[in-house]
Amino acid sequence: MCGIIGYVGPEQAQGFILDGLATLEYRGYDSAGLVYIQNNEAHLFKTVSRVEKLRELVNSTGATASALSLVSERPTASGLEVDSDWLRETQTSRTNGTVKRVSQEAKPDIPEMLAESSALHSSRQADPEVVVGIGHTRWATHGAPLERNAHPHTDSDKQFYVVHNGIVENFQDIKTMLEAQSVTFKSDTDTEVIPQLLAYNYRKLGDVKEAFLKTIRSLKGAYSVVMVTPLSPDTMYAARLSSPLVIGIGDKENFIASDPTPIMEHTKKVIFLNDYEAAVITAESCEIIHIKKGKLAKRIPEELEYDPEQALLGDHPNFMIKEVYEAPQTVRSALLGRLRVEQKLIKLGGLELVEEQLRYIDRIIIVSCGTSFYASLVGEYLIEEIAGIPVEVQQASEFKYRVEPLNRSTMVIAVSQSGETADTLAALEKVAGYGVLRLGVVNAVGSSIARLTDAGVYCHAGSEQSVASTKAFIAQVTVLALIALYLSDGNTPLYEEMINELDKLPAKIEVILKLEPAIKKLAKKYIHHRDFLYIGRRYMYPVALEGALKLKELSYIHAEGYAGGEMKHGPLAMIDENFPTMALALDGELFEKTMSNIQEIKARGGPVIAICNDPAKLKDLADDVIKIPKT
Ligand code: M6R
Repeated sequence: MCGIIGYVGPEQAQGFILDGLATLEYRGYDSAGLVYIQNNEAHLFKTVSRVEKLRELVNSTGATASALSLVSERPTASGLEVDSDWLRETQTSRTNGTVKRVSQEAKPDIPEMLAESSALHSSRQADPEVVVGIGHTRWATHGAPLERNAHPHTDSDKQFYVVHNGIVENFQDIKTMLEAQSVTFKSDTDTEVIPQLLAYNYRKLGDVKEAFLKTIRSLKGAYSVVMVTPLSPDTMYAARLSSPLVIGIGDKENFIASDPTPIMEHTKKVIFLNDYEAAVITAESCEIIHIKKGKLAKRIPEELEYDPEQALLGDHPNFMIKEVYEAPQTVRSALLGRLRVEQKLIKLGGLELVEEQLRYIDRIIIVSCGTSFYASLVGEYLIEEIAGIPVEVQQASEFKYRVEPLNRSTMVIAVSQSGETADTLAALEKVAGYGVLRLGVVNAVGSSIARLTDAGVYCHAGSEQSVASTKAFIAQVTVLALIALYLSDGNTPLYEEMINELDKLPAKIEVILKLEPAIKKLAKKYIHHRDFLYIGRRYMYPVALEGALKLKELSYIHAEGYAGGEMKHGPLAMIDENFPTMALALDGELFEKTMSNIQEIKARGGPVIAICNDPAKLKDLADDVIKIPKT
């Protein structure tokens, strides 16, 4: 996921942008860049490397001799929230942080990087006190991770500088049209058409704002775009369609970013741009324009609340480990105020809002992507078994193109950590006209999905910085279990047992976390294998899929997840001594079946690591075992 950051105000924009980009690093990226405009002069920097390299380049040019870095102090209190309803939380989000400033040290390493500056004769007199700048972390989609493909992109005359998230679907049409006008493109990206088209429109209209709006109106696809130009040296121009942008309103300075994380240390007041909205932002003003209607939109800034503790790494080596260790607290937070063990009650304030409509639901479709999709599959099994309502889970990217009957007794649930995933948003938008009830199971408070749905239940997992989702999966499964119990209205023999088990879950996860040294040892033993299989049955099947995704994503080792029963229908052919299997062999009615699958694998010489409740039962069969508590 790419990241966008922007600043306009009296400070050194570069310092804020570099710190903002560092905050956005958690999204993953392969190149980074920034441009700032001071005294009508644009200074552009790019690197196919880390943000720290970009900082070195900026500092080494002498352009930022006094550049400042913003560092958060350690917070003192936790901001855990008790459950409150969807609407209230959706309208207010989070922040606050203490900021101190320290100066930077520069270690130049110029050869790998690009720095250039260009001056234009501006139609406006630059205010020497105001600096404007934008930055970007890029995850390559159109074009390899090369310097020429890194953002910001500019037009041939270096007038307009653009950062962009999303995809310009009609970029080829625009490019062809501009090439016919002798415009030469320098990059392989879809993004470059934006500044080039902007320059073309500006030549015709002679007005930056009008040229920007005209350009944005020509784009098809999904975008969040931020633009600066020496022609208007104290202004940022931004626009959004299906890709998030949030504006931070400061005191004589304003901010913009693709998510609130980098701005929340500086201001609590924010405006989340809606689809088809553009913004013209100076240090003292923020004008929002509806792109299609061309009219001003009235938007009142929201107050963010944020617990900065979540954003800090603490003693952990990386965010993923930190978040794995937060799993027990994640479950506690998801259950807090909702699981009333004494009263044997599930209280979901967000669903009470749509109580009446829920009575008529006879079919549920869950839409989601990636890890959230696998959590949704667990949710499917849970809701069907506990609440007896038929559920199907669809990958949002497929669902949006399917033609299928929907009616008012169907409910669509969107499951998403970020609440901003374009395919999941598009799936929700697709069902807008059918009168179906739309629920959200979302972690990010105030996110687009939270705002688009009729009701929902927040995951309360706190901020998930690691791109590899772990605690969000756990929170989603917990919340889906609560929804299943809520929908059952107590009419399931499992009701009490489930409530008691959910209550014990955090303590059981703590037991598993203590296994880290033993699991590390196992990882070292198997580190040289290049292929892994994960198998499980019933609830363990989606867990096997998620396990395989995590291994791929984090170690670049090929891994596949399969339902144990599918092994004999083809995949067994792959198994040999170089293809280990992670078998999810927990006690329960399907344990014997999983044992049979393990036998099949052993018969082909495949090593087996079993995750089980009772290692004695796997003696002489599994090569290694990881014992976890029974639930
Ligand atoms: O924010 P979302 O839950 O909607 O994101 C969906 C997927 O992109 C996400 O779950 C992804 O698969 C994980 N981060 C991978 O670990």
